[in-house]
Amino acid sequence: MAKTHTRYVCQECGRATASYMGKCPQCGAFNSMVEEVVHDEPVTKGTAVRGLTGRSAPRSIGDVSSDAEDRINLPIGEFARVLGGGIVPGSIVLIGGDPGIGKSTLMLQMAMEMAATKRVLYVSGEESERQIKMRATRLAGARRDDQSSKSSFGPAVPLPKNLLLVTETNLEIIFNHINEVKPDLLIVEDSSAGSVSQVRECSSQLRELAKTSGISVFVIGHVTKEGTIAGPRVLEHVVDTVLYLEGDRFQAYRLLRSVKNRFGATAEVGVFEMREGGLVEVTNPSEAFLAERMINAAGSAIAVTMEGTRPILVEVQGLTSPTQFGNARRTANGVDFNRLLLISAVLTRRAGLKLAEQDIFVNVVGGLQIDEPAADLAIAAAIASSWRDISVKADAVLIGEICLAGELRMPGQMVARLREAQKLGFKTAIVPTALRKAEPYPKDIKVIEVRSIHQALDAAFASSNELSKGRKVA
Ligand code: TYD
Ligand code: MG
Repeated sequence: MAKTHTRYVCQECGRATASYMGKCPQCGAFNSMVEEVVHDEPVTKGTAVRGLTGRSAPRSIGDVSSDAEDRINLPIGEFARVLGGGIVPGSIVLIGGDPGIGKSTLMLQMAMEMAATKRVLYVSGEESERQIKMRATRLAGARRDDQSSKSSFGPAVPLPKNLLLVTETNLEIIFNHINEVKPDLLIVEDSSAGSVSQVRECSSQLRELAKTSGISVFVIGHVTKEGTIAGPRVLEHVVDTVLYLEGDRFQAYRLLRSVKNRFGATAEVGVFEMREGGLVEVTNPSEAFLAERMINAAGSAIAVTMEGTRPILVEVQGLTSPTQFGNARRTANGVDFNRLLLISAVLTRRAGLKLAEQDIFVNVVGGLQIDEPAADLAIAAAIASSWRDISVKADAVLIGEICLAGELRMPGQMVARLREAQKLGFKTAIVPTALRKAEPYPKDIKVIEVRSIHQALDAAFASSNELSKGRKVA
């Protein structure tokens, strides 16, 4: 009989200690230690995988097939883009996101799409087969009703025969199913959060399976309140690719973002819209994010932000309003709060806006979260526009990072940003003065180069009044 003892494992980072500690000595997390029983002889010693294991053998580098040619074509363009161009056989992908954001929907849509040509096994530890079928039928029905819309993807009706469903949480039984079904694609959704070592053990076995059998595995994870995938960061090291599905729950847009990818560029983003009939690809996100824009409204400015390799235009809205209860408040929605504080301070000190007794609200339309400093200038313009009650030129975009002294810094990939703005019909771009240009700017957009936030605001406003001349409205 195997001997057992207990140990304590940090649920954040996986550090194991012999005794309980309130604070993890490795990552500093509090109350993250969970007691676990350890069998001296590991229970999982390869039993589950053995059936499929092929022997490894050294090969000449020239004989190793490269994954570019082997990738399985994925008909969902926005998804394929995030994966780096398709599904890599034998890879393991973790997809995380808040509950209810649409992970199961996306994976089911992908499963149904892939089942047209491949064998797909969908293992759910959360929903019954009937529940999944109900959802699949709804998705398929929506597809049938929506044949006219080119951007919608989804399964052909009737439901694909090659999509097999099973509700199961026991890993050993799951492996039995895999041996029997021999799928090309495996999707595992497990609700049981489990402790770190369980989740890790489970994932390493799935990885072993992927590597030895060539099956592509997708694991659906859950994101904790702190924003990490449940169970743990440790999981992220086990898998090849980590994707997050994110978005504002009250908005329709969903962003599929890759945060780690052994087979493609990270920070790549796919954009979807959640509709009645499931997720629909948004192939032109800038257009979508600007769709509801009110032209010539005060307190609105257009930023060009890079999401991976793709520039996206978004509307930033600002509102200033006299403070009622003494302390001026700043509220940031879609932009970093500290960034907002910095921009407000620079506007006060370097552009002469009296914001000390103003509440400031900033919102990014469409539920997008912008982390890039390149949006600073648009944020500043939106705030200044509201404060002065003058609209920013309707055909202008603002791109640039604001520094503490009020001078501007050039962000990367300026040419790509300008091209996207021009493509969407913008005529003017207000950008920091370039000391050195790697590439000439596109010709069809008027680029106004400015050195300071002061100059940028002067250029941004429709009327040529200088900002410092005072405000029109209290
Ligand atoms: P789901 O995929 O279950 O989320 P997750 O697996 O990430 O927890 O998505 C659930 C949400 O998506 C739910 O609030 C309803 C919405 N939804 C639609 O709007 N349209 C649809 O066709 C489907 C299937 C779901
Ligand atoms: Mg789900």
